[in-house]
Amino acid sequence: MTGKKAQLSVDGLSETIELPVYEGTTGPDVVDVRSLVSRDLFTFDPGFMSTASCESKITYIDGDKGILLYRGYPIEQLAEKSDYLECCYLLLNGELPNPKQKSEFVNAIRYHTMVHEQINHFFNGFPRHAHPMAIMVGVVGALSAFYHDSLIINDEDHRKIAALRLIAKMPTLAAMTYKYSIGHPFMYPRNDLSFSENFLHMMFGTPCEDYVPSPVLADAMDKIFLLHADHEQNASTSTVRLAGSTGANPYACISSGITALWGPAHGGANEAVLKMLFEIGDAKNIDKYIKKAKDKDDPFRLMGFGHRVYKNFDPRAKVLRAACQNVLKELGKEDDPLLKIAMQLEKIALEDEYFVERNLYPNVDFYSGIILKAIGIPVNLFTVIFATGRTPGWVAHWHEMISNPFKIGRPRQLYTGPTYRDYPTK
Ligand code: CMC
Repeated sequence: MTGKKAQLSVDGLSETIELPVYEGTTGPDVVDVRSLVSRDLFTFDPGFMSTASCESKITYIDGDKGILLYRGYPIEQLAEKSDYLECCYLLLNGELPNPKQKSEFVNAIRYHTMVHEQINHFFNGFPRHAHPMAIMVGVVGALSAFYHDSLIINDEDHRKIAALRLIAKMPTLAAMTYKYSIGHPFMYPRNDLSFSENFLHMMFGTPCEDYVPSPVLADAMDKIFLLHADHEQNASTSTVRLAGSTGANPYACISSGITALWGPAHGGANEAVLKMLFEIGDAKNIDKYIKKAKDKDDPFRLMGFGHRVYKNFDPRAKVLRAACQNVLKELGKEDDPLLKIAMQLEKIALEDEYFVERNLYPNVDFYSGIILKAIGIPVNLFTVIFATGRTPGWVAHWHEMISNPFKIGRPRQLYTGPTYRDYPTK
């Protein structure tokens, strides 16, 4: 809180309204407009471009400078020195764990990766070709039917166990959607593997032979999860908060986050990147598609380029660009035709005036899409991978909201429909 005030005068109002201005630890000040409702005034901000929906201590983004901090730590340092589960602990608890806390946390996650055996039966109700996000929305929400000992949102122990379960079970469910789609048996998690190795094992292992995850691929998966772990009040996190503000249970809230993430303007972009590359099909078509992306009368956009917040560069994309090169080399896929199109597209867009002027740099989804494709993850599973990585962020925000005083999220509107009218008499 600062002593600063904002003054608002409105035509027709005799008084000038004084509004308090708050200062965060960094970032823009915010004007507290809560008292406006008592003067019969609302603020209008569709898309929430100028709205701070809550106070939070978890993640900070400076879009102009390309900065992303988890609890103060820059994402580049975390990607280099930390790992996904350590970042989960950091996001949930506010501080990095000491070695004992870390090993207890890693063990707790490890021992919650298995899902209730009856959840397996849910899968049989879905067509084999169902979109994995459709299945995830259903089965994650359905976890609330199984884990009754973690549904009381005002009980801190319940919240903690729900957080562990959600982070631990997401990769298991994600891999199950893939196994179901190809008619393979589900693979149980293995406690001797790291989080990312275990995910690759559940994806690509079979009961017929051992799967040995490559350290380069496991490391790239870990980075993808880590870089997606949180991104402050994005659409899906805001959805989780809104759902949580009604008192809904954590599994239901995370399921609502998965729904919001699904759209191509948000988490669906990594899938859209690959679909776009398939559509372009050949390097000779790139110019045509660049022209389409620039044409205001054409709805086509270069997927994986641009960001609502990062107007300089996406720091996550920088980290994944390097990981991307390692993965392609490890798999000997530098000459893959689709990936070659991606690399040419990246080069053209980085030099083209239209993209440079509008700061449309490749975002995290551009590179994660390419890495996931190279690893052999099916394209329709990409957004599920994003959801798996984002789960600790969703849970941390939900937990932060519930552990502080909060109100049900209930925006208002500028009504422009018909005013009162009587139903016609016949
Ligand atoms: N291809 C071509 N033109 C674009 C693109 C693009 N991908 N993105 C923005 N523009 C143009 C847009 O037409 C506009 O041009 P003008 O000023 O001449 O009218 C200008 O750039 C600003 O665009 P905007 O739509 O006002 O920007 P926004 O902040 O509302 O949208 C965005 C951000 C991410 C939705 C958008 O850039 C986009 O649709 N990108 C492709 C989808 C994508 O990759 N999304 C993943 C985002 S990263 C994952 C996450 O954090 O969720």
